[in-house]
Amino acid sequence: MNSFALQFPESISASPVIKWAGGKRKLLPELKRRLPSSYNRYLEPFIGGGALYFDIAPFDAYISDINPELVNLYEVIRDDVEALISDLSSHENSLEYYNEIRALDRNPNYTNISPVRKASRFIYLNKTCFNGLYRVNRKGFFNVPFGRYANPNFLNKESLYAASEVLQTAQIECASFENILNFVKKGDFIYFDPPYIPLSQTASFTSYSKEDFGMDKQVQLKSLCDKLSAMGINFMLSNSDTPISNELYSEYNVEKIFASRSINSKADRRGKIAEIIVRNY
Ligand SMILES: C[S@@+](CC[C@H](N)C(=O)[O-])C[C@H]1O[C@@H](n2cnc3c(N)ncnc32)[C@H](O)[C@@H]1O
Repeated sequence: MNSFALQFPESISASPVIKWAGGKRKLLPELKRRLPSSYNRYLEPFIGGGALYFDIAPFDAYISDINPELVNLYEVIRDDVEALISDLSSHENSLEYYNEIRALDRNPNYTNISPVRKASRFIYLNKTCFNGLYRVNRKGFFNVPFGRYANPNFLNKESLYAASEVLQTAQIECASFENILNFVKKGDFIYFDPPYIPLSQTASFTSYSKEDFGMDKQVQLKSLCDKLSAMGINFMLSNSDTPISNELYSEYNVEKIFASRSINSKADRRGKIAEIIVRNY
C-alpha cells in the first residue's frame, strides 16, 4: 500500500555539505517535478553529495555509496555532529597544512584514525582542494592539489546541523547499488544517479573511488531497473544524453533536459549540456 511520503517540516532546509562531481543542485526543479506523488521509502544508492535527498528530506530513507570516506562522513554527521564541528575548527588554510592532512591516507596507521577525524579531513580537503574535486589514484590515495582559496568555508555549522537532522532517520551503507535488491519493497521509490556514460573517451570522469564504473556496470544497472519494473517499483534515473544511454533505456520514459556542469577544470566546458531523466512511471 502506498502512503504519502512523510517529510520533515519546512523549517529544515538542508543541502549538500560537500561539493561533488555530478552534483544535482542545479537540476533540482527538473527532478522534483518528476517525483512520484507518493511513496513509502526513499532509496538513493549513488548518494554522492545527495542534492535531491537533502532537499526533499524524506522521513524514511536508505542512502548508500561505494566510497567509504563519503559514507563515513554521513554516518559521523548523523551520529556525532558536535565532535565533527569541534574537529573542523582545528584546521588551517595553508599549503603546508593541506599537504600534511592530504598525506594521512598514505600512512599505514590511517585505518586507526577515528571516524570523526576522517570525516573532518574529508570536508577540509573538499573545501580547500582545487575545484572541490574528489579524485584518488589507483591505490586509493587522494591526489587533488591545494586550491589556494582565500577563505574556504570548511566549518559551516548550520549546514552540518541541518544535514544531521535529515540524516537521523536514514539507513546509511557503504555498498554497491545492486545491494538494494535484497530489501527493496513495493511502494518504495529509487533515484539512481550513477557515474555517467562518458560523452567521449576523453571526457570520462570515473574516479569517485578506486573502482571504475564501466559499461558492464551500466548494463547491470539497467537490468536492475528491469527487475524493479517487474516488481512494480518506481525508479527515476539520471544519465548523460548519449546514443548508448538512449538505446539502453529505450523501453522507458526518457526525457532530455539541460544542465550546467560546474565541476570541470576547463572553464569553456562549463556550459549547458544535455542529459536524460529516465522513469518507469
Ligand atoms: C553522479 S555521482 C552522484 C551525485 C549525487 N546525486 C549528487 O547530487 O551529488 C555518482 C556516485 O556514485 C558512486 N558510485 C560509483 N560506483 C558505485 C557503485 N558501484 N555502487 C554505488 N555507488 C557507486 C560514486 O562514488 C559517486 O558518489
